[in-house]
Amino acid sequence: MTGHVYVTRLLTDDAMAALAALGPPLVTGREEPPSRAELLRDAAGAAALVSTLTDRVDAAVLDAAGPALRIVANVAVGYDNVDVAAAAERGVVVTNTPGVLDGATADLTMGLVLAAARRIAEGDRFLRTGTPWVWGPRMMTGLDLSAGAVLGVVGYGRIGRAVARRARAFGMTVLATPTRTPLEPDDGPVTFRELPDLLAESDVVTLHCPLTPRTRHLVDDAALARMRPTALLVNTARGAVVDTDALVRALQEGRLAGAALDVFEDEPHVDPRLRALGSVVLTPHLGSAGDRTRSAMCGLAVRNVAEVLAGRPPLTPVTGG
Ligand code: DGY
Repeated sequence: MTGHVYVTRLLTDDAMAALAALGPPLVTGREEPPSRAELLRDAAGAAALVSTLTDRVDAAVLDAAGPALRIVANVAVGYDNVDVAAAAERGVVVTNTPGVLDGATADLTMGLVLAAARRIAEGDRFLRTGTPWVWGPRMMTGLDLSAGAVLGVVGYGRIGRAVARRARAFGMTVLATPTRTPLEPDDGPVTFRELPDLLAESDVVTLHCPLTPRTRHLVDDAALARMRPTALLVNTARGAVVDTDALVRALQEGRLAGAALDVFEDEPHVDPRLRALGSVVLTPHLGSAGDRTRSAMCGLAVRNVAEVLAGRPPLTPVTGG
């Protein structure tokens, strides 16, 4: 089939209807990700590929698609799953979905900060075991956010700033890694610190940088060694920003108080050592999983496809590798 639109996963109903209305034949994946063989097979001859973060769109997939391919529309703000350079070499536009998931991701992040700081998930698990208990002054105490606890934001972009706004409302003080993007008037007070100092001065470190060769294992043994033993690490960015082995060592050895992780190095695999640690809160990559947010992400991806197939520039092209 030539010139079809291949959507690798079932998107929201409205997005599926909009894709079907575009005109070209639609090849639709399932709720689950396609196998590699299915991805290569169904991409063949496509004019547009609507991918998700679980699809590795590399040179082999682009070549399988062939010269008809004009756009890879990734349904995510992150695009580390797409070989952007290989796409550019082949004249294929890559788009992502920035701006529509900042609030949802920041909400989830704040939920994880609270869950880790105030031991919410641990308390839930504790009660489910049926263990006898009674309120006590020393029972399950955690970090007070409202007493000026310091939040260190690594990656002060749209999502990092949305997290910071929420954290300030909880009484936290915000540090962030330096950014070239100018501050907006409603961004609120922030003190910029280079990463090593931010790690050393924060009670909670939250990651909001993209995954690139430079940020892969940004949080490694050396970075974790700079953090306070009472500190918490929150990751809603990409799993590979953190060296899992180093994180497990730091938690097991009591050099870090806890972590809250929405993303994992080898998704969907979750390291059993993390699952065994009571000080770790785990969620299955739910950052953008709000109904309206998912609809907006899928809708933006479809609009990008519509624009490019109509010969117009995409709304949200990816410019960097
Ligand atoms: C993204 O958009 O990159 C998120 O990880 C999806 O939830």
